Parts: sequence; C-alpha cells; structure tokens
Amino acid sequence: MAKATRETVASKARKSAPKARTGAGKPAAASRRAPTSAVPFTRTVRDLRQIVAAWRKAGQSVGLVPTMGALHDGHLELVRIAKRRCDRAVVSIFVNPAQFAPNEDFDTYPRTWDNDLAQLATVGCDLVWSPERLEMYPEGFDTRIEPKGAALGLETEFRPHFFSGVATVCCKLFTQVLPDIAIFGEKDYQQLCVIRQMVRDLDLPLQIVGAETIREADGLAMSSRNRYLTPDERAKAVTIHRVISSVATAAAKGQDTSAVVAAGRKRLTQAGFAKIDYLEVRDAQTLAPLEASSPREKRVLAAAWLGQTRLIDNVAV
Ligand code: PAF
Repeated sequence: MAKATRETVASKARKSAPKARTGAGKPAAASRRAPTSAVPFTRTVRDLRQIVAAWRKAGQSVGLVPTMGALHDGHLELVRIAKRRCDRAVVSIFVNPAQFAPNEDFDTYPRTWDNDLAQLATVGCDLVWSPERLEMYPEGFDTRIEPKGAALGLETEFRPHFFSGVATVCCKLFTQVLPDIAIFGEKDYQQLCVIRQMVRDLDLPLQIVGAETIREADGLAMSSRNRYLTPDERAKAVTIHRVISSVATAAAKGQDTSAVVAAGRKRLTQAGFAKIDYLEVRDAQTLAPLEASSPREKRVLAAAWLGQTRLIDNVAV
C-alpha cells in the first residue's frame, strides 16, 4: 500500500510535468526501506523535482521543513505551520554528516524512520525528502558555504564546523526542493539567524519563517537529543530554561545583566550542569554582543552540558 502511495505521487508528477524536463516514463526512485505509513517519500533529486514541478504546474505553493529526523512535537508544529501557509508540505530527513565534528554524535544520532513517518502522517505531510548520503554529497563534492556575521561566536566557539555544514546542506535543500518558504524552530536561534543571513546574502528565492520553541510542560525545550538524558538529568534539565528566563527578566528591566548571568551560571552548576559553554545576552537580529542600555531587541542564549548531553536554549527579552 505504501509503495502504491509513493508510485501514485510520482506517476501523477510524471503525467502533469512537461515530458522534456522530467524524463517522462522513467520509474520513481525505489526505496530500500518500506514506510509504515501513507506518507510518500523519495530519495533522489530527480524524483523530488518531478513531484514538486507537478505541484507547481497545478499552481500549488510549497513549504519545506528541514530536519534530521528523530521527530518530536516541535517538528510536527513546524509541519502544521507549513500546511497552514502552503498547499504542500515537504519534510526533509537527512542526518547531515557535514555538521558533525569527528568527536560528535553522528553515528549515534537517533534514527527513527518508522516513527517519523507515522508522526508525519498525522499532520498531513505531503512528501518526505530523504536522500542517501551520496545523493546529497556525491563523489567529488567539494563546495562549502562559510557563513560569518550571525555565525560568529556562541555555537561557533564550541562547534567551529557546525554552521558551515548547516548552511551548505540548507542551501542544497533549498535549491533541491525550491520551496516558497522554509520553517525553522527558534530553539536553534543562531541557526535561524545564520539561515536568514544566507538567504538574504545569496538572494535565494524563498522566505524563512521562524517558529516559536515548543516546550515540555516544565519548560524544557523539545529536542531530539533530550532522549539522551537519564531520568535524573531530565529532572535537572529544566534549570537551563529557568536561568535564561531570569536573565531575560533582568535584561527587560534594563538592568546590568552581569550579576544575574553570574548567578545563573552558579545555579546551573549547582543543578548538576558540568560545563557551561555560554550564557549571554545578544542582539536578537545580528547576535552581536550588546550593552545593557542598548535599545535594540535582545535575546538570551545558553548552551550547557548535563552528563553527556549538550543542551541549548534561548528566550526573547
Ligand atoms: O536543525 C536541524 O535539524 C539541522 O541543523 C538542519 C537545519 C536540518 C540541517 O541539517
């Protein structure tokens, strides 16, 4: 049944797409893994383009939600936004090796394909774009985007490879899918700023939509990596949100935040966070450091380690 669903989408695309441009009559990409839900997926740029071109021909708009899978309610909310704003929602699932350093969790990053597809079926996702590594980075691939500006500092101090990998894959995802909009969670706030900057700088023809962070009942930001936390760590993890919220409250009053930042760092350490990468108040648009008295919109951002898990979070001031 799932195969039929996939073939239906691809064959509709073939029927309505111009023959010369789509290679009409050739079969859709085969999958090595059978999906457990009715959400169609494709693994080749060629088929992706055929499907999207057919939607375009029918006058339909397209929203993209880039993900690395291991989906949770935060991701599903992004898909709901895509569906509210566009006729079609494409979700990409690709664990991007280019954004992991050799000592990071690429090999162990959770891969929950069946569960991801089952969840996406509940929110009306129209297509999953899940290329194999060699489809995304073929033999001889040797181009990278090196963002500066919003990419400087914060995450980059600790993960220097990260934004180059993210920007490169997102640029590829945008030119592969050619969406009208792409939706990113504010949970990865610096990532959102870097992507906005890249789209502006390279004149990429899409709009970037930022979506509010979805939180657990106690305030912990939803993240695919939360599943690494032990029950004890999970109970302590919420402290990061409490700390950035108290810094934001002080910053909103125009107070010098250095004392509250120092108190926040102490509170995180007392709660069991072994290492605090950063806890800072920055310009909400450029992410440049700011004076407390600055009238510019501000954002409080933090990254800290609880056991083997690195948590990041941020709030608006
Ligand atoms: O936020 C993520 O899941 C990833 O960084 C992204 C944007 C999908 C790029 O691989």
